[in-house]
Amino acid sequence: MEKYVIEGGVPLYGEVEIQSAKNAVLPLLAAAVLTEGRVVIHKCPRITDVLNMVQILEELGFATSFLGGDLTIDGAAAANHEIPSALAKELRSSVFMLGSVIARFGRARIAYPGGCDIGLRPIDLHLSGLRRLGVQINEEGGYIDCVCSRLTGAEIVLDCPSVGATENIMLAAVRAEGETLIRNAAREPEIADLANFLNRMGARVYGAGTPTVRIEGVPSLRGVEYTPIPDRIEAGTFLIASAMCGGELVLKNADAENLTSLIHKLCEISCKIHADNGKIEIQSRGRVSPKLVETSPYPGFPTDLQAQMMALACICRGSTVVVENLFETRFKHVPELIRMGADITVRGRSAFIRGVPSLKGADVFAGDLRGGAALTLAAISAEGQSSVSDLSHIDRGYSAFEFKLRALGARIRRVRI
Ligand code: EPZ
Repeated sequence: MEKYVIEGGVPLYGEVEIQSAKNAVLPLLAAAVLTEGRVVIHKCPRITDVLNMVQILEELGFATSFLGGDLTIDGAAAANHEIPSALAKELRSSVFMLGSVIARFGRARIAYPGGCDIGLRPIDLHLSGLRRLGVQINEEGGYIDCVCSRLTGAEIVLDCPSVGATENIMLAAVRAEGETLIRNAAREPEIADLANFLNRMGARVYGAGTPTVRIEGVPSLRGVEYTPIPDRIEAGTFLIASAMCGGELVLKNADAENLTSLIHKLCEISCKIHADNGKIEIQSRGRVSPKLVETSPYPGFPTDLQAQMMALACICRGSTVVVENLFETRFKHVPELIRMGADITVRGRSAFIRGVPSLKGADVFAGDLRGGAALTLAAISAEGQSSVSDLSHIDRGYSAFEFKLRALGARIRRVRI
């Protein structure tokens, strides 16, 4: 196991290059299943979730190579429809692959991905959507067996705008006969990125990014080269780091359009932010509490920045209420922040934070990916020394996290325990 050792209390200055979006790359890798051609993902981040997805592709018979930032996938020899259960459990987003594996091979088998660190994470909307497209699904013994001789387009109404369910249904519908409508679809930028990728492959997807996505099925899809959109959650993490630690940052390869809810909040607490042609500059000029942070589906405040924003609220002047509306147990970072001197009370899905002048160094434990990032920011801003374990969570979604932070002046190092 590994941990960060951090000496806190220094401002952050400099430039940081934002990685391609983890939550865009993962569905693109699922989409690569749809073609026998060659797919190249440029600027692909070397993070654990991506490496696990690549391993699943190899188990399905795809040839892959990862040179520099280019991930190449060759699907000519692929023939296996069973997603390995150990990997499926490791990586919940492997469930996205059901749609593309069924579309490619006519069948799919996957172990039921259990709940995980942030909530129950049900997949009922994924399965009901696939059933509407004509997939026979048998759930037995912890496995999901899918069979479909012919996918047929349908109108699907999602009970909630689920990102994964929208993507899973898109990945099957592109090869269905006829037209599919997905109503109450998720509107996250990663959905539009997946649609752009699929359309480059020869698909016909319209309306991605709006509540209604329309797909006209096509008989085949070709290989494609593609560069995913920047990671808005990594960018948001660095913006919040700047607001917490002080100093001035320039984020390169960052799209402010996809971060309007966070940027609005940071300006409220008196950060100065300027964005143009793929860059975001931030100057932290004090910290007045943001009063209310309530997560909701895009374009609302992202749940993936809730923990980081809570860490910031802990050292703002005044009180803040944080409400987590998407996941049931996404407050694992609260007891760890309290260990650092934060003043937080939780009632159900709401956390009541009273700002303190600064946090104090402590040994803290990450319970999930974004909570780990939040605790790292808290430690960098705190007085004294902290450790953050275990880094396997952070490594799932942030590439070279400590290197980027160190280059900005943070005193952070990774040590094996
Ligand atoms: C995606 O997860 C992201 N992961 C998550 O990011 C992100 O937090 C989430 O969307 C919300 O934005 C990837 O894209 C790989 P959902 P997903 O289905 O698709 C309910 C990170 O840190 N729901 O939109 O699993 C569910 O319970 C990760 O990068 C159902 O009820 O999220 C939740 O309340 C964490 N039935 C809500 O929808 C279903 O079948 C949103 O979940 C599916 C979901």
